[in-house]
Amino acid sequence: LARAAGASRFTFAPIGIATDHEVHVPAGFRTEVLVRWGDPLWSDAEGAYSAETGVPVEMSDRVFGENTDGMALFDIDGHEVIAVNSEYVNPKINLPVASDGVPQNADEVRLLKNLQGVTVMEVAKGAAGYAVVKDSPFNRRITHDTEMTLAGPLAGHALVRTNADPEGRTVKGTMNNCGSGRTLWGTYLTCEENFNGYFGASGEMPAGEGYIRYGLGGQGRYAYEIYDSRFDISQEPNEPHRHGFVTEIDPSDPTSTPVKRTALGRFKHENAEMVQASDGRIVVYLGDDERGEYLYRYVSNGVYVAGGSPEGLLDDGTLSVALFNDDQTGAWLPLTPESTGMEAAEILCFTRLAASAAGGTTMDRPEWVACNPLRPEVYCALTNNKNRGVAANAGGDDMPVNGPNPRETNTYGQIVRWTPAGGNHAADRFNWDLYVMAGNPTVYDNAYGGSENITAGNMFNSPDGMAFSSDGMLWIQTDGDDDNDGDFAGMGNNQMLVGDPETGEIARFMTVPNGAEVTGLCWSLDKTTAFVGVQHPGGAWPDGTGRPRSAIVAVWRQDGAAFG
Ligand code: FEO
Ligand code: CA
Ligand code: CA
Ligand code: CA
Repeated sequence: LARAAGASRFTFAPIGIATDHEVHVPAGFRTEVLVRWGDPLWSDAEGAYSAETGVPVEMSDRVFGENTDGMALFDIDGHEVIAVNSEYVNPKINLPVASDGVPQNADEVRLLKNLQGVTVMEVAKGAAGYAVVKDSPFNRRITHDTEMTLAGPLAGHALVRTNADPEGRTVKGTMNNCGSGRTLWGTYLTCEENFNGYFGASGEMPAGEGYIRYGLGGQGRYAYEIYDSRFDISQEPNEPHRHGFVTEIDPSDPTSTPVKRTALGRFKHENAEMVQASDGRIVVYLGDDERGEYLYRYVSNGVYVAGGSPEGLLDDGTLSVALFNDDQTGAWLPLTPESTGMEAAEILCFTRLAASAAGGTTMDRPEWVACNPLRPEVYCALTNNKNRGVAANAGGDDMPVNGPNPRETNTYGQIVRWTPAGGNHAADRFNWDLYVMAGNPTVYDNAYGGSENITAGNMFNSPDGMAFSSDGMLWIQTDGDDDNDGDFAGMGNNQMLVGDPETGEIARFMTVPNGAEVTGLCWSLDKTTAFVGVQHPGGAWPDGTGRPRSAIVAVWRQDGAAFG
């Protein structure tokens, strides 16, 4: 890795670690909570949230959901509109104490379903900074029961037909919305990650590798299957095949129907990073966040022309799995009937099995992928993998150490980057290196001490969220061990750091309350304000008393200058 030779490109003084229940940013920056779990999106939900009882079921789809995650900000005729995921719920925080974290009736299930999914909300800058515009015509909640369309080659197939939807084309809900993406035509992509956790089996589980490899079976984490037969795999064996996709939402039209894009494959999607190939085709990089699973790339068959129709671009293309060679070269292996021995529709339903058959490289949990806006270069956070070199993945492949995943029992994680051949994102080949290996140089003086650009002053573990600012700096968010002890001594709370792709330098910009991860990042249109997600905080942040409330925080420079 190249070391800093000239002047630093950081426009802030890096901060130290923290172990408290506050948010910290560098001198000269300010932060304020933009919106918290339970805050009203419409006036009728004003005061819906109570520190004693949480959110009542009848207002649960009128407020901001829990556990904020990926997000993007859109310019809709000058209105600033954020689309943002609510990944999951903490039932013990949301349900009455007497329920002890397990829904006791259909209403309690409905409450949990409504506080997850996606929020679309207008924000505007006033004298006191940014705030949500209550009652904006753009405001919308999308929940686990919102109707959507299944599109692409798997739509209508026998594998996705159910009792409620014998045509296999109309689905309810987008679930476990983790990372995100935005299309070149101004729509939001929400990525369904651990969808398996919502399903349970009241009776016999249907047999099949396709269930095992996706972790389906046993009891659902929220008891949905007891009150809604759609989630009972013994009754609806195909319902789980209708989740685990990238779903497209039009934030400019609150009456639009979200569309599940099956051509991008079915797995535990982290985010969806869209760029354009040299010839105008659409390229989407996609991670599957599970130990020993894979990194993917989708390339459309059609080309996109700015301002033109995107029709079919996310429904007709080629999905490939990444092969990383130890000599720092790599290739994209197309998932086809020839390479997998599976039918085209099966490949999109059981993508993990197809990737194994094609011979992809097992990865240390691919989280967010981010493309450098200044050059053809792509980064993927490999968050950690305690089983690397030790065990196989669930129902899948062995995981010996390999080029971009070089450490056994990898508790710290790393960020791999690659440059497509000829600078073309649709090229078959690429060259890769490791941008950083996280580690703890105060505990280890071997590979677990991290790469050269890790010091006692900037160390972290478990990189997860990532996004580039327009100046070509890489913002890195962590979701790791924050007990500040043992292997993690001196790392403090989860944090957001900024990396310079040129020099390899990494500097800490933000720390979040103990217990929280940092996830989700977007900027105001004028780039003066960053919106940052704080998920599953501990203590009583941000109110100081009562329940912890996941929230989006606005961060800006006191001098008002742009920094995104
Ligand atoms: Fe929801 Fe892989 O993070
Ligand atoms: Ca994540
Ligand atoms: Ca994570
Ligand atoms: Ca999370």
